[in-house]
Amino acid sequence: MIAWKDSYDIGVEKIDCQHRELLAKLNEFFEACTKQQGKEKIGETLKFLKEYTLEHFGSEEQLMKDIDFPELTEHQKIHAEFVQTVLELEETLNTKGVSVLSTIKLNRTLTDWLLNHINKCDKLIGECIAKRDKAV
Ligand SMILES: [Fe+2]
Repeated sequence: MIAWKDSYDIGVEKIDCQHRELLAKLNEFFEACTKQQGKEKIGETLKFLKEYTLEHFGSEEQLMKDIDFPELTEHQKIHAEFVQTVLELEETLNTKGVSVLSTIKLNRTLTDWLLNHINKCDKLIGECIAKRDKAV
């Protein structure tokens, strides 16, 4: 279980709320794993991620466009790669079935990705907005 820290906030309410929601969903999945219910939960988690990341990445990308974010293309690429990762996980799941390994992999991939991405990439969006606000 990973608790949300204020330091993860990028300073944009809508995006921060979506990040919290994503983490909450991952925590739900972790909890299911600790109760040996990961296998049942993995399909649902992937389905949620596919839908929710589309919405969330859409919000972030729109925001980046609105503020003329200089690294928009790179950021979009990272989002697209993540979508691909989720699809590959789903594909593996469908063809090979759910294994302990796949639940562990999903857990690790998602958490690492989310926290890294927020702290390294999404933070830059917040910083860009803060700079703009200062300049005005
Ligand atoms: Fe992002």
